[in-house]
Amino acid sequence: MAAGSGRLALRTLHGSGWVRGSGPAVLSRLRDEAVVRPGFLSAAEEETLSRELEPELRRRRYEYDHWDAAIHGFRETEKARWTEASRTILQRVQAAAFGPGQALLSSVHVLDLEPRGYIKPHVDSVKFCGTTIAGLSLLSPSVMRLVHTQDPGEWLELLLEPGSLYILRGSARYDFSHEILRDEESYFGERRVPRGRRISVICRSQPKGTAAGEPGQPPPAC
Ligand code: OGA
Ligand code: MN
Repeated sequence: MAAGSGRLALRTLHGSGWVRGSGPAVLSRLRDEAVVRPGFLSAAEEETLSRELEPELRRRRYEYDHWDAAIHGFRETEKARWTEASRTILQRVQAAAFGPGQALLSSVHVLDLEPRGYIKPHVDSVKFCGTTIAGLSLLSPSVMRLVHTQDPGEWLELLLEPGSLYILRGSARYDFSHEILRDEESYFGERRVPRGRRISVICRSQPKGTAAGEPGQPPPAC
């Protein structure tokens, strides 16, 4: 298939095994705004986070919600208190993804998607989230797709392996919708990425105009 070979050429050309795009221009424009850091977490750090999260998540039921909800097959929590070991990891995320003057929401959003769970395209509400979103992925690989809200021909795909960190900021956060593909559609280009249960740990900067330290409580898919 011609489209297939075009995609392969692009991937080779741009050298990243984790980010694909509709063309070189969008890849280059979003190079610093849609970032994937594979292997950000060590196996021990992944284990630290999942061991801490599992009992809290297990108390909740997976939600399927209304037909128009952004997230399907999920349970979640907003977590403010972490063990020392996890705090050290979250501080690494903060240093990697946020500027020194950027205030974060006081709670971290933890989202558990069951194997059939997925997130429909949405842009995080500017009421609850500032310019930067940084997410750790645990357990299962998944594909995040970004599509320009004004020009759907412009898109990126991010391959999120367990232990990876992704960062969306600026234009990637405001001008593109993001989604996590459901198992049937979970492909990174030609490569099938089978979905299992996935936990994400998402840090967000405070929306503009929020007083530092004021708790922000974004709803699901804020
Ligand atoms: C969200 C969202 C992405 C993820 O909750 O708004 O887009 O990595 N989550 O789980
Ligand atoms: Mn989102």
